[in-house]
Amino acid sequence: MRLELTVNGRVHELDLDTRVSLLDCLREHLRLTGTKKACDQGACGACTVLLDGERVNSCLILAVQCAGSEVTTIEGMSSHEVGRAVQEAFVAHDALQCGYCTPGQICSAVGMLAEASATLTAAEIRERMAGNLCRCGAYNGIVAALQEVSR
Ligand code: FES
Ligand code: FES
Repeated sequence: MRLELTVNGRVHELDLDTRVSLLDCLREHLRLTGTKKACDQGACGACTVLLDGERVNSCLILAVQCAGSEVTTIEGMSSHEVGRAVQEAFVAHDALQCGYCTPGQICSAVGMLAEASATLTAAEIRERMAGNLCRCGAYNGIVAALQEVSR
């Protein structure tokens, strides 16, 4: 199927099998490998991107479902005001170790902060970020970084 996919503000014309996930489309067809594949079944959050500003697991969505929507990946975060602030806070709070979960954590955090209307407590951040796992256990740094941005 032919489709147009807008990723990080750029329109891509694609000819895709309708069974291709958004995750595989980003990584294999557009070479945007910042979005990570881990479980490939919606359990870990490593593949999180923004779809029209809302966080989604890109392994659970077909690319063809995203035609007409705006996809934002970690590669687009440097030109996103909140995305930049989250990235800087992750560095300042040492919120990563191997970094494999980090693109998903950052995209999820940007979506999460847009969902919240008030300053978040550490407990609220942990709850709202529960879908993003970190095998390195960098959770304390991640929560500290997101508390700073939330404030
Ligand atoms: S790779 Fe998508 S949730 Fe784990
Ligand atoms: S920093 Fe290694 S999995 Fe999170």
